[in-house]
Amino acid sequence: MSAYDKAVKAIRAPLPGAPELRDFVRFATLAPNSHNTQPWKFRLQSDTVDILPDFSRRTPVVDPDDHHLYVTLGCAAENLLIAARASGRPAELAVMHDRDAGTWARIVLGRGARSDVDLCEAIPARQSTRCKYDGRALAADELRQLADAAALPGVDVLFVTGRDRLEQALGFIQAGNGAQMDDPAFVNELKDWLRYNPAAALEHGDGLLGKCSGSPSAPDWLGPLVFDLAFRKAAENRKYARQLRSSAGLAVFVTERVDPEGWIEVGRSFERFALRATALGIRHAHLNMPIEVPETRPGFAHWLGIPGRRPDLVIRFGKARPMPMSIRRPLDAVIVP
Ligand SMILES: Cc1cc2nc3c(=O)[nH]c(=O)nc-3n(C[C@H](O)[C@H](O)[C@H](O)COP(=O)(O)O)c2cc1C
Repeated sequence: MSAYDKAVKAIRAPLPGAPELRDFVRFATLAPNSHNTQPWKFRLQSDTVDILPDFSRRTPVVDPDDHHLYVTLGCAAENLLIAARASGRPAELAVMHDRDAGTWARIVLGRGARSDVDLCEAIPARQSTRCKYDGRALAADELRQLADAAALPGVDVLFVTGRDRLEQALGFIQAGNGAQMDDPAFVNELKDWLRYNPAAALEHGDGLLGKCSGSPSAPDWLGPLVFDLAFRKAAENRKYARQLRSSAGLAVFVTERVDPEGWIEVGRSFERFALRATALGIRHAHLNMPIEVPETRPGFAHWLGIPGRRPDLVIRFGKARPMPMSIRRPLDAVIVP
């Protein structure tokens, strides 16, 4: 087994029989997070875990107002809540604000009955699966279970499953993708987080490893050159067409509150959706371009029937084989005094 695969296996190991706070933090770090930047810090006290933003890991071009950063913190918080509850540590989350740290999450753990055990088991198995899916629709009961899992006060989840509607959504996705690929600042920021081979991903402990998206590995010197040659708008738009046409549908998450607290709630709702999907053998991946590009966002919201609101996440779902798993930084790098 390669050093990369060993590291991935270690961070995704099941919780031990008597988990400590550090074990819950490990499960929190398995959360989806924008560009795999892992923009979080964890502060531990006896029965409390604080999840703080790490602004040194911002992605200011794709995420100028830290929307994705706070969605990411919400995903991590939900993982921690689920891991604690599944271990007989019922836990509650409070969103806090202060001048130094900004908005952050405090989770206080108690003791009691176990719950969310199946969602907890899905945490190490969940991944963003960026490949072609099997093209089949989901059963009504599967869709209902996904909707139930994502239900959280203040967050709406809109499902798009009809082929005509999905084809219309593709127009917004391709327009957003085109705008991003025309923006050198976007492309440069993305390149900062690309890892062209498992050794580089392991060394950084973060970033987007090519093989997790189906790209071949390359030496560090060659990867950027191949990327510049292969990263072409028409080819990327064809890839997104294949991916969406093979998916069972899209789920669009929309919060009522357009602020960090609302974005944390979106992350929590999305993570419950993603874990329930994983438990059901359903894959998911992001197609956020229409909501990341300010010029495409209002038209997309209007098309969704929510004019004036800000859609927060665009997620495709369906069935497919798994892809290689992504890496995380070691716990000592994310736990702060
Ligand atoms: C707020 C947010 C935005 C994301 N946006 C994208 C995206 O636009 N495209 C994409 O392929 N993945 C996107 N992702 C997925 C991350 O890249 C992924 O979670 C990360 O690389 C870790 O991989 P994993 O989910 O397989 O553990 C996003 C994730 C989050 C939480």
